[in-house]
Amino acid sequence: MSLCMQAATYLAGAPNTIAQPLVYTTRISFTLNGRDTELEVPNHHLLLETLRRTLDLTGTKDSCGIGVCGACTVLLDGEPVSACLTPTVFVNGHAVETIEGVAQEGLLHPLQQAFIDHGGFQCGICTPGQIMSAKALLAANPRPSVDEIKAWMMGNLCRCTGYYAILESIQAAAAALAPRAQC
Ligand code: FES
Ligand code: FES
Repeated sequence: MSLCMQAATYLAGAPNTIAQPLVYTTRISFTLNGRDTELEVPNHHLLLETLRRTLDLTGTKDSCGIGVCGACTVLLDGEPVSACLTPTVFVNGHAVETIEGVAQEGLLHPLQQAFIDHGGFQCGICTPGQIMSAKALLAANPRPSVDEIKAWMMGNLCRCTGYYAILESIQAAAAALAPRAQC
């Protein structure tokens, strides 16, 4: 038997020694848009991929991927966070809200309606993140000044509208929500 044949015969009978990558996972439970949710997630997964790929919630957008643009903003216990930087295991025991949870019983949230009425979006890539950030703002400060809106929304970039329509949309939503805030 030639050397080549001997080698081929040896390799054919050899166990597969190519190491498979180990993936460590963790079971987590959290509230997602008001619903109790349990998942087994790889420890290295980020919330953005868990939402978009595992849970098929594609309203949260994937844009810069490095925490700069705000397109992936979701609320974690009511606070805006970049889902592209948040390890999914960190949400264990917490409440996550995405754009899919903003409309209630088929009715748009006043922020969503205001973005439509005031032209706060064009392509829409930034819009879910804008709305989630603005929702957190109005929860903390129901009647923000223009400067307060600008400062709060600084982490949400838009390449389409310019920012005036977004500012107007948030102001309009604040006005629409104000009577409820006083109740
Ligand atoms: S995609 Fe997360 S901040 Fe840009
Ligand atoms: S509407 Fe296109 S990026 Fe903002």
